[in-house]
Amino acid sequence: MTRPGDLNHLFVVFGATGDLMRRKLLAALFRLGRRDGGARGVVLGVGRSPWTDDRFRVWAREALLALGHPDEGVSQWCEGCLFYHALGERAEDDEELRERMESLERAHGLPGNRVLYLAIPPDAVPATVERIGRSGLHRSHGWTRLVLEKPFGTDLASARALNQLIHASFEESQVFRIDHYLGKETMQNLLTFRFANPVFESVWNRDRVDHVQITVAEAVGVEGRGHSYDRVGALRDMVQNHLTQILSLIAMEPPARFEADAIRNEKVKVLHSVAPVARDAAVFGQYTRGQVEGRDVTGYGEEVEAPSRTETFVALRLELANWRWRGVPFYLRTGKRLKRQISQVVVQFRPAPLCPLGPDCPASPNALVITLQPDEGFDLLVEVKTPGQAIAFQTQRFRFRYAEVFGPLPDAYETLLYDVLTGDQTLFVRSDEIEAAWRLYEAILTHPPEVHPYVAGSWGPEQADALLAREGRSWWNP
Ligand code: BG6
Repeated sequence: MTRPGDLNHLFVVFGATGDLMRRKLLAALFRLGRRDGGARGVVLGVGRSPWTDDRFRVWAREALLALGHPDEGVSQWCEGCLFYHALGERAEDDEELRERMESLERAHGLPGNRVLYLAIPPDAVPATVERIGRSGLHRSHGWTRLVLEKPFGTDLASARALNQLIHASFEESQVFRIDHYLGKETMQNLLTFRFANPVFESVWNRDRVDHVQITVAEAVGVEGRGHSYDRVGALRDMVQNHLTQILSLIAMEPPARFEADAIRNEKVKVLHSVAPVARDAAVFGQYTRGQVEGRDVTGYGEEVEAPSRTETFVALRLELANWRWRGVPFYLRTGKRLKRQISQVVVQFRPAPLCPLGPDCPASPNALVITLQPDEGFDLLVEVKTPGQAIAFQTQRFRFRYAEVFGPLPDAYETLLYDVLTGDQTLFVRSDEIEAAWRLYEAILTHPPEVHPYVAGSWGPEQADALLAREGRSWWNP
């Protein structure tokens, strides 16, 4: 059992003056610091900017207030818990950082527990991991945990190399690879929903399911980060991680135990059963000028410096070669500047084998629609007879919405950071899992399909519709 004192720690954020810290980490750290009976944490921001503690605190306070936190408690937390260290490039600088960490630990009576959080650009990660290893920042009297953001590598080879580099200094049990989708309450609920409701589990297979659709649609574009996005694209930015995680949770077998490695074993098995995606099962797109939610927006080509073939939309057809799912296609789709912001899974069941009304039966097959965000909830679509003499069907919904029952959901980062402190790796991606996920997309990363234009505010290029139409199916466009 974890005792409260076991959680007292030094939380070191590399890249502390960056966007992730400002938008997500600060607020999560602040809320964790205020939890009753929670961990006592001291935050040391590390960055290249020559800031002082005071400058960092002012910046952090402004960031928290801008996110809507009432001032109550914010100033006090910033004053008492936030520190900053400017890190240079020389070997002596590493030594200075180590001394600074140790002196903070002594001053605050911390037991040597350390979180080393890399909130830095992906190309700076390998060098920073090496520096940590060389200078021994990961060695202390308490536990040390390394947290890495996505993207983890840019392909299978680079992910493998990064894993090797990390394992030179850290055990896998110390490594927390973030996919922030796993911190979302609705993603976690996919597990409990499936395995706590046997009524669904018994139809969750090739006998009853016709196909599965996973859509993560964004109304936003690249939001001023066209330069870095252009080197990444939607396949690396969204599909290899977030959508693949959703796929694993939907398709996995019940774990032997509800604990991190048993669950992650089952997720890896799913990935091993997926055939690598072939080029003709993939559609890439890029948005052009259009209208999203009533607003005129520019095309992707106008947001990057040079003509670009980077995909801002991907649709894929995946097949799983295992007993549960053989023959059931999984269609994945994500894009920027689509018609609306929504993440949804649709499990489309097979139609009735015979219709009570004869051959021209208008009854639609049942579907379970799981909305991951926004308006999180579940809808089970069923057919009912419309009242009156003539027999006709209408589709109706059994509907559940989180917000109506539970109010606002916790933020993903707060959940994930708490799990880092308690050492629970369930919601983090294991080294073999990340490599298995890259393997699926190797072929289309090496030889990408043609990139088709789509109008901003649409549901993507028409070729994505054709991907399903050739099998007599169509996308659910909410
Ligand atoms: C990030 C991607 O991982 O996820 C972004 O890099 C994307 O491009 C974001 O916008 C979407 O996250 P959410 O939580 O807003 O759905």
